[in-house]
Amino acid sequence: NKYNNISIAVDGPAGAGKSTISKLVAKKMNIEYIDTGAMYRAFTLKVLEKGINLNDEIKIIEELNSTYIDFINGHIYLDNKNVDKQIRDNIISQNVSDIAKIREVRNGMIRLQRDIAKDKNIIMDGRDIGTVVLPKSNFKFYITASIEERAKRRYKDLIQKCEKSISLEQIKKEIEKRDELDSTRAIGPLKKAKDAIEINTTYKSINESVNLIVDIVEGR
Ligand code: DC
Repeated sequence: NKYNNISIAVDGPAGAGKSTISKLVAKKMNIEYIDTGAMYRAFTLKVLEKGINLNDEIKIIEELNSTYIDFINGHIYLDNKNVDKQIRDNIISQNVSDIAKIREVRNGMIRLQRDIAKDKNIIMDGRDIGTVVLPKSNFKFYITASIEERAKRRYKDLIQKCEKSISLEQIKKEIEKRDELDSTRAIGPLKKAKDAIEINTTYKSINESVNLIVDIVEGR
């Protein structure tokens, strides 16, 4: 690989295309993709499976100490079990922000994320990557899209997974609520880093966004 410890941070609201784009950039540049949202989702799955009350921070933090999360070759593992599919359930999307706002949870995840990224060429996506997790990244991107477009994309995803009981309007409300929670929390809120390049994907194809990022990184 021609890169030497390259680190690309990608942040932005839900459904803007961060993970789709980051995955393809990783493939094109032959570097590693790290999905930090998947980690918060995996821990949320554990908390829900255990039936822990989402207001019980003490229990949640206790649970974190006996939880093992890993992200290997684009796959997410919860206590050594692959949970790629389960973490995409809408019930996880609806509850993950409540878990992700807890300071101790964020500290644990940040430690893990920095550890996974260490001494590697990586592109990492999330909400606080350019601001908190990897503030010294070589490149930072902030990916956005209109709320209508983001809701449409999520709707298509869910329909494909046969979750037909949900309406576009409901998804739009859920995304708006999650963005509100993620950007107003006290610790590590969703925020564009000062030195991040903003990319609005509303009217861009996936390929256009991918090429734009690769061109910028490669100095074209
Ligand atoms: O990217 P995603 O939709 O899979 O992320 C799920 C949730 O996890 C998101 O609503 C907030 C939280 N999250 C976070 O707080 N910090 C990150 N770096 C990534 C995700």
